[in-house]
Amino acid sequence: MTDTDKDRVVIFDTTLRDGEQSPGATMTHAEKLEIAGLLDEMGVDIIEAGFPIASDGDFNAVSEIAKNSQNSVICGLARANFKDIDRCWEAVQHAKRPRIHTFIGTSPLHRAIPNLTQDEMADKIHDTVSHARNLCDNVQWSPMDATRTEWDYLARVVEIAIKAGATTINIPDTVGYTAPVESADLIRRLIEEVPGADEVVFATHCHNDLGMATANALAAVAGGARQIECTINGLGERAGNTALEEVVMAMKVRSDIMPFYTEIDATKLMHISRRVATVSGFNVQFNKAIVGKNAFAHESGIHQDGMLKNAETFEIMRPEDVGLTETNIVMGKHSGRAALRSKLSDLGIELADNQLNDVFVRFKELADRKKEVFDDDLIALVTAGENAEEDRLILKSLRVVCGTSGQAEAEMVMTIDGVEKTAAEQGDGPVDATFKAVRELHPNTAHLSLYQVHAVTEGTDAQATVSVRLEEDGNIATGQSADTDTVVASAKAYINALNRLLVRRDKVGQDQREISYKDVS
Ligand code: KIV
Ligand code: ZN
Repeated sequence: MTDTDKDRVVIFDTTLRDGEQSPGATMTHAEKLEIAGLLDEMGVDIIEAGFPIASDGDFNAVSEIAKNSQNSVICGLARANFKDIDRCWEAVQHAKRPRIHTFIGTSPLHRAIPNLTQDEMADKIHDTVSHARNLCDNVQWSPMDATRTEWDYLARVVEIAIKAGATTINIPDTVGYTAPVESADLIRRLIEEVPGADEVVFATHCHNDLGMATANALAAVAGGARQIECTINGLGERAGNTALEEVVMAMKVRSDIMPFYTEIDATKLMHISRRVATVSGFNVQFNKAIVGKNAFAHESGIHQDGMLKNAETFEIMRPEDVGLTETNIVMGKHSGRAALRSKLSDLGIELADNQLNDVFVRFKELADRKKEVFDDDLIALVTAGENAEEDRLILKSLRVVCGTSGQAEAEMVMTIDGVEKTAAEQGDGPVDATFKAVRELHPNTAHLSLYQVHAVTEGTDAQATVSVRLEEDGNIATGQSADTDTVVASAKAYINALNRLLVRRDKVGQDQREISYKDVS
């Protein structure tokens, strides 16, 4: 290892596993492949592509991501049993560089679930890590809830995992309980005291329940960890995981006190953040560090004055460093396909010819309705997408009449599995009438748990992006759409969520599963 290698921090992205596990963040097969491609292109070292034993859908996604991988190591998750590990290997073995990640909960609370004594669990760790290592030469082991595991036991099981052949030891703060000073100390002590620790890479995996995930991950690096596990936009269960964009930019901007580096191409951060927000249905909060809409906005007079004189007055990084270009008027209805391609490319969006054709048609429709098409409009057009191939419900037309008393009537035409159907419904306002028409055409018991509208740009002709989250029998799905007409965007987002729910329902029906991480049999 050279001196510079010692300062290199490996980025392990788990958007497609820990991120996708977040209720409502389910992605389709095609979306998972797309995100994996973007992560690989951005320079992510290891992509945790899923949990292959969980379902045939997860297995197929991990195998296909493995087959398509270019530079990234492709990793799958497996609980501490041979069946999980074998299935994981079956999926990741196609990758140029595969990895098996196996884990077990080691804290007293987690040990109580399978009702194992410390010795029984230690044997299980030895057997399962050895088994994984016999299949693959790149094995990661995690003691889940490590930060609440007794020190002596944690040190003991880490040593066992290293002796059994683990090449990376990941120390998860599963419930987001630890604090930066403890995070650094724990890694430092493990490296100093566990025999064989200098032979492996230590990783940090932090959850954000107390808002300290980024600080804890960086502290762990200061303590000697050289792999950070993170997700795009900090996506993940509960308060999420460490945000990839935050740790990458923190190490870049503050290399004076954190002399570490990653191989991430930060100019791709903005685009991937938007794609993950769209496909997961989890919008990025406006004031989110690095990728939030306001992260580089300077509203107050004092700030604007300072910025005009010298951008460094209030800016510690340049917007273009993270792939953000200025929002300006880009094109109108006379702009051609080549101009659209070139503009999208400036925005970090590269499309295949057939995708460009589809976006071009929608761009022309938008330009007819909207005088000025801004960068953000184009981004919404591309990211909100249109119908996916597997969609069974497709909106054909919608006509809404609003009365002055609040009552509205919606007339809708939709195709369901290729058959055209029409409905007319009344409701309290246009959105209510529209959603009732959808339910009339496709009766369902899904509960609407989120309905959110955002204006993409300013002005009365601005496009609206709408997010709709539905819950039915424990399945959650989020749909999004953008249109200059808020009611049309609402209808499309609702139908989009229903389509996803149908995919999810079919998947669960096929697999008869919902495997729990706690089931370590
Ligand atoms: O948070 C956690 O402990 C995990 C493990 C499966 C690594 O995600
Ligand atoms: Zn986790």
